[in-house]
Amino acid sequence: MTALSDRPTTHAPAVGSDVRRIDGPAKVRGRAPYAYEHELDSSPAFVAIVQSPVARGRVVSIDASAAEALPGVLAVLTHENAPRLGEVVEEIRVLQSATVQYAGEPVAAVVAETSEVARDAIGRVVVRYDSEAPDVVLSVDRDDLYAPEQLMAGFETDSVIGDVDAALAAAPVAVDVTYATPVQHNQPIEMHATVARWDGDVLRMWDANQGPHNLVPVLTSAFGITEDQLHVVSPYVGGAFGSKAFTHVHQLLAGMAARVTGRTVKLELTRQQMSSLVGHRTPTIQRLRLGAEADGTLTAISHEVVEHTSRNAEFAEQTATATRLLYAAPARRTTHRLARLDVPAPTIMRAPGETPGVYALESAMDELAVALGMDPVELRVHNEPARDPERDVPWSSRNLVACLRQGAERFGWAGRDPRPRVREVGRRLVGTGVAASTYPTRRRPSQCRIEAVPGKATVVSIDASDIGTGAWTALTQIAADALGVAMAEVDLRIGDSRLPKASGAGGSTGTTSWGPAIQAAAQALRERVHAEHGGQLPAGGVVVTGSSGPGEEVERFSMHAFGAHFAEVRVDRDTGEVRVPRMTSVFAAGRIVNATTARSQFLGGMTMGLSMALHEESVLDAVHGHFANHDLAEYHVATNADVGEMDISWLDEVDEHVNPLGAKGIGEIGIVGAAAAIGNAYWHATGRRVRDLPITPEAFFRGE
Ligand code: MOS
Repeated sequence: MTALSDRPTTHAPAVGSDVRRIDGPAKVRGRAPYAYEHELDSSPAFVAIVQSPVARGRVVSIDASAAEALPGVLAVLTHENAPRLGEVVEEIRVLQSATVQYAGEPVAAVVAETSEVARDAIGRVVVRYDSEAPDVVLSVDRDDLYAPEQLMAGFETDSVIGDVDAALAAAPVAVDVTYATPVQHNQPIEMHATVARWDGDVLRMWDANQGPHNLVPVLTSAFGITEDQLHVVSPYVGGAFGSKAFTHVHQLLAGMAARVTGRTVKLELTRQQMSSLVGHRTPTIQRLRLGAEADGTLTAISHEVVEHTSRNAEFAEQTATATRLLYAAPARRTTHRLARLDVPAPTIMRAPGETPGVYALESAMDELAVALGMDPVELRVHNEPARDPERDVPWSSRNLVACLRQGAERFGWAGRDPRPRVREVGRRLVGTGVAASTYPTRRRPSQCRIEAVPGKATVVSIDASDIGTGAWTALTQIAADALGVAMAEVDLRIGDSRLPKASGAGGSTGTTSWGPAIQAAAQALRERVHAEHGGQLPAGGVVVTGSSGPGEEVERFSMHAFGAHFAEVRVDRDTGEVRVPRMTSVFAAGRIVNATTARSQFLGGMTMGLSMALHEESVLDAVHGHFANHDLAEYHVATNADVGEMDISWLDEVDEHVNPLGAKGIGEIGIVGAAAAIGNAYWHATGRRVRDLPITPEAFFRGE
């Protein structure tokens, strides 16, 4: 415990070094169980769900007798007999009424001795419905579009500065273009799963989520229990991009099934069920109007968004908020309008809002560059704002220009022929494109407890969450440096609602929120040992807590990470197939704690952006209201073969204003703008501007 004295330690700093994932060995040896794999009980029961094929209507009758008669069936829950839930939001009031609000809504759940019996039994539950034609088609000319009171994360619905229409009319050069992005679905490899058990009046849950504490308010309210009567455990998660952030119906069903049967129950959603039960990214229709002087100076920016939400929830995604800060212009407007449709509630998915919004803005910027006859990198550099144009506060740091310059250099942008469709390699048309990226930097309230005992590893406890990001490793690095010990002397504990409360993994806030909380607790330990124990850790050890949360920096600075993507696209003239042989992306995201796991985050985000550009689309059946392509056979995501050379780097940026760690968060910025760079390169290759994603092979022949 040299760390606690003022003597310099002999340890090299762990933060910034290239440490391998500390949970890697356990994962490859099968010793890092995911939720469903927990064997808490030698004879658990299994839950299977009966879903409504009807998107709008009522359950008229349910005959569960054949299912109940099946040997091994323990219970069939329906709205008629299921436990009453306490107050929870409408979208997850499962089995509480006969009303059906979306295709796939659970109308019954079977609990049985085996999963085979449970799944057999759901086919024997006879449900009759009264149904109406669902309304699921989003369009800009619906007469029921409305302005929500505010957007997610508290953003204003609209922003208006200056006279946008006059500025557009007066602009020497202008573009007026509309982009559409489809519904997309979170596709973590680990399906959503819960193992639930009641020990007396204590509910225990081993659950796949993005933060055990995220579930506490909903589960305590739903089951009428106190926080002490709830224990959610989630140390290892097999991927999550937003769908595991919030409580969904399956966790409530598992709690109900466990209560009714008195058994430990296991519930894993199928991939198909995930299409309706854990949310989706809302589709968008975005009209972008940009006006500029002949030299490229923006004079007007208008970004109007139409997107959907469900009848049973208002999900108002902040699609155009990045447009409020990426560039400046004297006249600017952003608006968001929603249509309430007969669909399941949308949810968040990696950079909700920024992902579709920056796709549209950065595609429109490319169209403006073409209209101006200006290089698209130079257009962006020319419009770099010195301060946050909307809030009129300084940036904590903003290195977009450096990302564009470094990216251009690495990619070999110089000397690019701006003309479209003039390069060919064999049958393939070749083009290059660029787009900017940005994502907000935030931190959320988090607490940490440290227990230091001489001769033992220091226990660092915080209800942080590693959803595959590398948090186990990064937080151990941060703790080691904060304590002045080697990583092996840190015993990190995360992923448990009984640990000190911390924010969930989301909004790229994990490292920025948990890291400073760990640093604060380490500082408290140091101070305690000095003040009360003369600088020597006492034999009985010391327990301290520390916390971190947003401070005055929120008011003083505009805090964002930035990045630049460059892509090469090749399009087969005969088949329309689109390949992306290489991407170069450069990020300015504050201090990078771990180069290996950070690169994986950027790479994952970029790959998801590529997947968005070329593959991902959930098709809503306009007649029946269900997602028609609800599995990985028909919902295409990019695979290894789709990903070419990914050249990923970052600037040596440490932002002392954002938090004591100087890190900005890296989970989401990789996806933002990536699809625009690919779409812009597609135009450069083909001369065709595809404004509705994904850019499928058919898009090449559309209109021919
Ligand atoms: Mo991410 S969509 O903030 O979980």
